[in-house]
Amino acid sequence: MEFNTKAAAPEAIKADCLAVGIFEDKGMSAAARRIDRVSGGAVRAAMASGDMAGKRASIVVLRGLKGVASTRVALVGLGKAADFGEKAFGEAVTAAVRGCGAGTGALAFAIGDWKVVGRAADGNARALVAAARATAFRSDELKSKAAQAASQEPRRRRITVVTDKPERGIADGLRQGVAIANGVDLAKRLGNLPGNVCTPEYLADQARALAREWGLKAQVMDRRQIAALGMGSFLSVTNGSVQPPRLIVLRYEGAGRGFADPVALVGKGITFDSGGISLKPGAAMDEMKYDMCGAASVLGTLRTVAELKLRVNVVGVIPACENLPSGSATKPGDIVTSMSGQTIEVLNTDAEGRLILCDALTYVQRFKPAAIVDIATLTGACVVALGNVHSGLFSKDDALADDLLAAARSSGDSAWRMPVDDDYQDQLKSNFADMANIGLPGNAGSVTAACFLARFVKDQRWAHLDIAGTAWRGGATKGATGRPVPLLAEFLRRRAA
Ligand code: BES
Ligand code: MN
Ligand code: ZN
Repeated sequence: MEFNTKAAAPEAIKADCLAVGIFEDKGMSAAARRIDRVSGGAVRAAMASGDMAGKRASIVVLRGLKGVASTRVALVGLGKAADFGEKAFGEAVTAAVRGCGAGTGALAFAIGDWKVVGRAADGNARALVAAARATAFRSDELKSKAAQAASQEPRRRRITVVTDKPERGIADGLRQGVAIANGVDLAKRLGNLPGNVCTPEYLADQARALAREWGLKAQVMDRRQIAALGMGSFLSVTNGSVQPPRLIVLRYEGAGRGFADPVALVGKGITFDSGGISLKPGAAMDEMKYDMCGAASVLGTLRTVAELKLRVNVVGVIPACENLPSGSATKPGDIVTSMSGQTIEVLNTDAEGRLILCDALTYVQRFKPAAIVDIATLTGACVVALGNVHSGLFSKDDALADDLLAAARSSGDSAWRMPVDDDYQDQLKSNFADMANIGLPGNAGSVTAACFLARFVKDQRWAHLDIAGTAWRGGATKGATGRPVPLLAEFLRRRAA
């Protein structure tokens, strides 16, 4: 899919299909009115017939209109003007891309008055690309050739945003949107791959490939090197698995200055989480292949940042391993020593994400990061608290939290701030080690997980994103979402600006 922008009257643009909006209450958008005028009332007729009432995400395609250069005109319902927000905008773009007709190669959008409150032209352009690209995403690389062919897009689309006068923000927004979509697609692809393909070494290979293609620096450490760093907590999670663990470090130097003040992104890379000896129930256990979506979002974000050549230094750190039961697996009650020197009583081997992240958080401090953000499918409790809508944001640093929330809002990749105060730390007391790896059952589980991590980032600017509910969808449209790549990309874009 390609994107560009052109200043022209909507009726003059020569595309296979031109999309114009119709509001449910206010009727025709400005572009629709123009098309109606030059065509001698074709839009009005479609509305009068009852075919187009402006209902959200509805679509009617008209053909061969008089005075209109495009072959087709798609009337796209935008819903009530007062309710027209980022969600309705995305639905309208999706409806147009899906419904414009299989023969459409060039699709033009006249979205001059598809205004979303609080969003400028570049934001609209980014959102348009995000919605359009999402319609084309497929995870079919493991299907047979015949099945792949059947699910391909009928035609490769070229999408043009038509404006009355040239607008710099739109071209910039489209370019940014494409880079973000590329990062999102990478994160989705990796998230959807099964545990027998997407192993720790596979993630390492992805990091090496990104480094080659985008001029990043990748370093991959094996079990011996991880042990030499003293990461006893991380390694305890791998004990039951025959897949060797990897510690992946990926550096992007966009600001130079000897890699000063990087933003550190730390992603949970559990390529399959069975729970270990504290085995999970069988239902939907396949979904635990997504337990590396934090890692995938780090890789996706680095790809986006490199493609956009942002003037910012970023270091990504990914502890990657499997969590499986076996005769050599870590047992409930085992006590392990983290890289920080703090000891941990592993009361539940299913609370493994924090055990790999704590060592990665200790490790990343050697880069003297300006800020550390970890991203993890960390707790089922976060899904209970926030569902699939918001990622959980935990930070003691108000300025960092505000920056992340602002990026979340403007990228449409939302997050909601949760507490991490020390009042919850009591739950992690252990009689035999410096701390336990779980709190009280059914008691603020996503908060105590964050509090566990907080013990490893004292005096750091740190935030934690729990994406257990947002990184994938279940049900019929099951699959990875690519979140929170848009949030992280926007956060870094703002820091670089
Ligand atoms: N990967 C899971 C968290 C998870 C659960 C993500 C559901 C997505 C959907 C994590 O490793 C885990 O198992 N957490 C436990 C922690 C508990 C044992 C304290 C959980 O949430 O049940
Ligand atoms: Mn687990
Ligand atoms: Zn897990």
